[in-house]
Amino acid sequence: MTTLAGQVALVTGAAGGIGRAIARTLHGAGARVALADVDKQALDVVVQEWPDGDVLPVVVDLTDDDDTAALPGRVRAELGGLDVLINNAGVRQILPLLELTPSDWRRTLDVDLTAPFVLSRAAIPSMVEQGRGKIVNIASMAGALAFQNRAAYCTAKAGLIMLTKTITLEYAAKGVWCNAVAPGVVETPMTSSYFRSEQMAASIRANAPMERWAQPDEIAGPVLFLSGPDSDYVNGTTLFADGGWTAGKGY
Ligand SMILES: NC(=O)c1ccc[n+]([C@@H]2O[C@H](COP(=O)([O-])OP(=O)(O)OC[C@H]3O[C@@H](n4cnc5c(N)ncnc54)[C@H](O)[C@@H]3O)[C@@H](O)[C@H]2O)c1
Repeated sequence: MTTLAGQVALVTGAAGGIGRAIARTLHGAGARVALADVDKQALDVVVQEWPDGDVLPVVVDLTDDDDTAALPGRVRAELGGLDVLINNAGVRQILPLLELTPSDWRRTLDVDLTAPFVLSRAAIPSMVEQGRGKIVNIASMAGALAFQNRAAYCTAKAGLIMLTKTITLEYAAKGVWCNAVAPGVVETPMTSSYFRSEQMAASIRANAPMERWAQPDEIAGPVLFLSGPDSDYVNGTTLFADGGWTAGKGY
């Protein structure tokens, strides 16, 4: 059983479906957790439901570079360290390319790719100083496989997979691990519309060899593995938690 006893973790997008599951799982493994999200109301609900109240909620808009860069320092000041950074917050728009404006494009790139860069940049120096730190980026199978009407999202997630590798090249020898988890379709507020459409649900079942979508806890498990000591020789990789979707295509 992976233990994160005595460690501090920061989870972005912690008020959302996958972020909340990750935060609860890391806490269950013994970590003290900081929950960052732009949605104060949703964050309040997560905090109210937190098992022992020992949690640090932070309302932050990750499109603000200065506030984002200040976040790791704030966590270190309040919780006494930062051992695990989970870059999970994300947004996604479904629009044909010609209807996607440059400002839509930038907003997706800002949250899904630039914020993980800014946060990693702010977290790495103290990780290097303490000789150990783990970063897990929540990418997507859409970073490896193109999906229609999601140009900005797919591009951002492909970039995040590459950012994961470049951080490893530069900092692995200094005690930093940077890996990604690439989920397939997961039932969360981001995808709630999918499951209201029988056609979409059938298409997901047809594309995923496991013939189903995932629940958030099924993404939290791989994230815990990459956050803890059991993955100490795993660096720069992307773990696809997609029910086999990207393994290939059937007939
Ligand atoms: N749900 C899926 O099927 C799926 C599949 C692959 C990857 N992912 C990725 O998993 C991650 C979590 O997605 P989810 O499905 O839980 O979505 P979600 O919408 O439930 O949660 C996303 C969270 O990010 C927060 N957020 C958005 N913009 C922010 C900002 N500017 N500053 C701070 N917080 C912000 C939201 O408030 C929300 O709480 C995302 O990166 C997403 O791309 C999800």
